[in-house]
Amino acid sequence: MADPLNGPSADSSDEDVFQRVDAPLPGAPTRAAVILPWERQGRDVAGVDQPRAAEARLAEAVGLAASIGLVVVHEAILPLRMRRPSMLLGEGQVATQGQAISSGHVDVVVVDAALSPVQQRNLERAWGCKVIDRTGLILDIFGERAATKEGTLQVELAHLQYQRSRLVRSWTHLERQRGGFGFLGGPGETQIEADRRLIDDRLVRLRKDLEQVRRTRGLHRSARKRVPFPVVALVGYTNAGKSTLFNALTGADVTAKDQLFATLDPTMRGLKLPSGRRVILSDTVGFISQLPHELVEAFRATLEEVSEADVILHVRDAAHPETIAQRGDVIKVLDDMVADGTLDPAWPDRTIEVLNKADLLGGVAEIPLREGAIAVSAITGEGLEALKAAIDLWIAQGMEVADYEIPPQDGARMAWLYQHGEVVERHDDDAAVRMKVRLLPADRARFERRE
Ligand code: GTP
Repeated sequence: MADPLNGPSADSSDEDVFQRVDAPLPGAPTRAAVILPWERQGRDVAGVDQPRAAEARLAEAVGLAASIGLVVVHEAILPLRMRRPSMLLGEGQVATQGQAISSGHVDVVVVDAALSPVQQRNLERAWGCKVIDRTGLILDIFGERAATKEGTLQVELAHLQYQRSRLVRSWTHLERQRGGFGFLGGPGETQIEADRRLIDDRLVRLRKDLEQVRRTRGLHRSARKRVPFPVVALVGYTNAGKSTLFNALTGADVTAKDQLFATLDPTMRGLKLPSGRRVILSDTVGFISQLPHELVEAFRATLEEVSEADVILHVRDAAHPETIAQRGDVIKVLDDMVADGTLDPAWPDRTIEVLNKADLLGGVAEIPLREGAIAVSAITGEGLEALKAAIDLWIAQGMEVADYEIPPQDGARMAWLYQHGEVVERHDDDAAVRMKVRLLPADRARFERRE
């Protein structure tokens, strides 16, 4: 994985003089501290007691930091009595954390809150290292995971808007490109103006590109759909176990001769179901609690895969104290996608709810299930065969039988049907080839549109 903090050094500019003496060696893991400022709320949220909710939130932030390759060596929950404009935290807290940060040789501190540019700069000065806030962290994750053209542009747009607002400080993509990790003062004013102009130009271009991509969205989709297998997309909260499940389901199935899948992005892999049918499993970026509102668009763009999917697996951490609230959040985002036309309203009909981490609750048999749900443990493997069978069944049931008459010379259309469906019957005569074919509804519509 690319080191998210030490971009390639494009040139050796004057900024090198500001390099920290103990800057990590190239390729060394980036050591991080994750700090959660925790405001006591007047009432308990959703019945979850406060310390537990804070711990869950911290665990989420640590998981997010780890997912972009940071090695978390220090974590802390800091009760916040008031938000201080200069550094958010109290002076005593800043000092105590400073000691832990320096003794842990921390390169970057993730503060799991929204920091103003000034707070961020002041904390960087106080601690002598990089500080990023929740939005910065999430933007990095989205940047790594955006798969479609639109997703990538949307994330870059959000990233640039965020950077533009905080050019006073040193954590910027532009700076990373210049290889400026570790300098403490921030770029000079002229540099800031130049960066700002660069960003503005780039923003104008990005908005144009996005418009263009949106206009041709349909075309992109059909290009993606050329993959001749049904697509099964995993969605769910961060830490629900999507990647573990993805690996557990496909791990044994990836072979060197799987050329087709080798050409897809790493979040897609082939999976053979018990019937022998092949599908493509597609992992998506995880949902994050209290997503900063300026990132909602970018997040939804990373979910584009879901609109393409024939089956959606909604992976839940059944053992999480807020599993029910998380379920509601996921459903709400998918419903919002229906409202703006990016997702078909019938999505719940093609969704299988996967209650993961059953091992933490005493095994699959102990989990009460609603219809359309399956309990599994991605770690022990329990329930995975049942899950594969459920996907198989869903695809088989979802297929429709259609009859077509195709001119004998139209080999391309016949080949398409063989590739996308199961040809149940075929009669050839001089006038036409009559075929009875089982097809997924989406493929049937696609075929008939081209008639
Ligand atoms: P994001 O990539 O952040 O969206 O997370 P994810 O949903 O892909 O979760 P991931 O697979 O990274 O798993 C998160 C944590 O849960 C890891 O520590 C896993 O080892 C653990 N985990 C996943 N599945 C299970 C399970 O079935 N049982 C138990 N006990 N732990 C699990």
